[in-house]
Amino acid sequence: MDKANVSETEERTFQARIDAEEKIEPKDWMPEKYRRNLIRQISQHAHSEVIGEQPEGNWITRAPSLERKAILMAKVQDEAGHGLYLYAAAETLGVTREELIDRLHTGASKYASIFNYPSLTWADIGAIGWLVDSAAIVNQVSLQNTSYGPYARAMVRICKEESFHQRQGYNIMMTLMKGAKLQREMAQDALDRWWWPSLMMFGPHDGESAHSAQSMKWKIKRRSNDDLRQQFVDQAVQQAEAIGLVVPDPDLKWNDARGHYDFGAIDWQEFERVISGNGPCNRQRLAHHKNAHDEGAWVREAMAAHEAKQRSKARDVA
Ligand code: 3HC
Repeated sequence: MDKANVSETEERTFQARIDAEEKIEPKDWMPEKYRRNLIRQISQHAHSEVIGEQPEGNWITRAPSLERKAILMAKVQDEAGHGLYLYAAAETLGVTREELIDRLHTGASKYASIFNYPSLTWADIGAIGWLVDSAAIVNQVSLQNTSYGPYARAMVRICKEESFHQRQGYNIMMTLMKGAKLQREMAQDALDRWWWPSLMMFGPHDGESAHSAQSMKWKIKRRSNDDLRQQFVDQAVQQAEAIGLVVPDPDLKWNDARGHYDFGAIDWQEFERVISGNGPCNRQRLAHHKNAHDEGAWVREAMAAHEAKQRSKARDVA
C-alpha cells in the first residue's frame, strides 16, 4: 500500500478510536496535526496556570489576615503544580520544557488573556478566585473527557483543587459584601473590572473560533466556547445576586424561553488587543516570568548536573 493510503487508513482508524471514546496515549499513532494542536492548547493552559500566579502572588504580602495569607499562598502553590502537571502532559507529545518556555517568551505561545489585567485591591483576589477559577472549572470539567489520556488525567487532579480556589474567592467577596460601605464598593469595583475579561476566557464565539471545529471532531474540546461561557454566566449571575453584587451588563436578562441569561456584547477588540500583547500587564507579566526563569537557571543546571552524575554512577555499577 503506498504512503498516502497508509496514512489514510491510519487516519480512519484513529478517528474511529476517537468516535468510540477511546483515550489516545503518548505511544499511540496520532495525526501530526492532532499532536500539534494538543501541544498548542496544553502548553497555553500550562503557561496560563503559571502566569496566573502573578496577579494573586502580588497580594500574598498584603493579605488582610494570617488566615487569608495562608489560603492565598496555598492557592498560588496549587497553580504552580497545575502548570507542572500540564507541562508534563505536553512533554509526552515529544516537546521539551525548554521549547515550551521559549515559545512563551517569544510570544509564539499564548496564555489566558485574563492574567494581563492588574490586581488593584484585595477584592480583586476575591474576584479572581470566584470568577476566574469558576470559569476555569467550567472549562476544565469538560476537559476531563478530552481524548488525550495524559491531558484528561491532569484535568481530573486539577479540578479537585480548583473548587477550593473558587470557594475561597467567593468567600472573600461575601465577607466584603457584609462589611462597611467602602468594602462593598471595593467588591463591586472588582466585579466591574473582572466580569467581561472572565467571559473572554472562553475564547471567541463559536463561529469565529479557529480551532473549535477540528478540536471538537478530535474530542480535544468536548463543549463549545459559547456553550461553556453560557454555563459560566448562568451560575455567576446567581452567585453575584446572592451576595448583593450587580453584574456590570445592562443587557443581562433572564430568557425564559432559552432557560439561560441573555447578556451583552463582548468587546472583541479589547480581547484581540490583549491576546496580541497589548493588554494592561502583558509586558510586565512576561518580563517577570523571564526574570524568574533566568534567576532560576542555576537550579536547573544543578539538577541536570546531579542527574548526569547519577546516570554515570549507575553506568559504572552496571
Ligand atoms: N486568552 C488567550 N488566548 C485565547 C483565549 C484567551 N482567553 N481564548 C482563545 N484564545 C486564542 C487561542 O489560543 C487561539 O490562538 P492560537 O491559535 O494562537 O492558540 C485563538 O485565540 C482562537 O481561539 P480558539 O477558540 O479557536 O482556540 P481554542 O480552540 O484553543 O479555544 C480555549 C480556546 C477555550 C482557551 C481552549 O484553548 C482551552 O480550553 N484551553 C484550556 C483551558 C485554558 O487554557 N484555560 C486558561 C485559564 S487556566 C486558569 O484559569 C487557571 C486557573 O486555575 C486560575
